[in-house]
Amino acid sequence: MSQSDYPNLFQAGEIGGLDLACRIVTAPMTRVSAAAGGLATGQMQAHYRAFAEGGFPLIISEGTYTDKEHSQGYLNQPGITDQAQIDAWARVTEAVHGAGGRIFQQLMHAGALSQHNDYVDGTRAPSSIQPVGEMAKNYFGDGPYQTPAALTTGEIEKIKAAFSQAAENAVAAGFDGIEIHGANGYLLHQFFSTATNRRDDAYGGSAENRARFHAEILAAVKAGASGVPVGMRLSQMAVNNFEHVWEGGADDARALFSAMDANGADYLHINSVPAFKPVFDGDRTLAAHAREYFSGPVIACGGMSDAAAADGMIGAGDADFVAMARGALADPGWPNKIAAGDEPRTFDPGMTLPLATLDNTEAWRAQNA
Ligand SMILES: Cc1cc2nc3c(=O)[nH]c(=O)nc-3n(C[C@H](O)[C@H](O)[C@H](O)COP(=O)(O)O)c2cc1C
Repeated sequence: MSQSDYPNLFQAGEIGGLDLACRIVTAPMTRVSAAAGGLATGQMQAHYRAFAEGGFPLIISEGTYTDKEHSQGYLNQPGITDQAQIDAWARVTEAVHGAGGRIFQQLMHAGALSQHNDYVDGTRAPSSIQPVGEMAKNYFGDGPYQTPAALTTGEIEKIKAAFSQAAENAVAAGFDGIEIHGANGYLLHQFFSTATNRRDDAYGGSAENRARFHAEILAAVKAGASGVPVGMRLSQMAVNNFEHVWEGGADDARALFSAMDANGADYLHINSVPAFKPVFDGDRTLAAHAREYFSGPVIACGGMSDAAAADGMIGAGDADFVAMARGALADPGWPNKIAAGDEPRTFDPGMTLPLATLDNTEAWRAQNA
């Protein structure tokens, strides 16, 4: 099997005016490996550059915090909030560009799922509800989450302004686009889910109201990131509850996807594991639901390192692009190897356990060379 067996994967595509040589991108992966001060490192330059060298035309960065208030989620998470962080990321974007790739920055606010914050105490969320589940040990967490304080409208305005500034900073650092982390149980997702949003103001109640924060963050980021594409990542699952589903099912999906379309997202990135599994007790994938209501490109993520399944997602019209996380980590040369008919290495949990750090992955690779 080689490139000609996967005609859908190996065709050129476009996201927000950027031409991409094939339809395979890397998914965002938190690596909790930044230096003190939230600075991207030389090790991170090599990590990201390897994906470009391996044939991924587009890389999406790990979730990066947006302010020195409550956005940070993890110890050793990188930020994009000051000049030193911009300069550190600029060396990463240069490394990727030098290998012929493009890189988007994923902007993230952890909300109630914050496990560590260098700047402030306490956590913030739409409502004061303790998250279910336990902190992720491989991101340096342990035990139950804190109970967050409910965000005031003044704090919500500050978060929007910070996302806008972070987007401007990301463009200054040389990123080719921005992805907003609206998925996986973090702050935006907390606004959308009725399990975590009990507000009785304009952000609570109906699906349209619960999608308002996504729409406003999108508008704020678009204002800050003029000239580059801005996409939104969405999921039903949450990192603290993999079985989480949107309580309103297909109606929630319609409201959220339509809001992203109406507010001009340049792409949607749908995380659903596995991406080819139907949702809402029906026969269509979450990506297919997105395509029904969203007019731009849809990236499908979740189990897409199965090349036949990934090619099939695009061939069936469910998605325009596929993203992979664990498959790319296992083998940063995945696209080039599949194109050449070689077998890429497959993921082993030892690459991200006991810690999801780059050091741990490098040690695993050295031991299993
Ligand atoms: C080590 C690791 C870190 C991750 N960090 C992020 C992140 O920062 N932002 C995000 O949106 N998803 C994150 N994810 C989720 C992945 O992007 C992806 O949605 C998930 O792993 C399913 O895709 P896969 O089957 O290709 O691995 C992470 C996944 C892994 C394995």
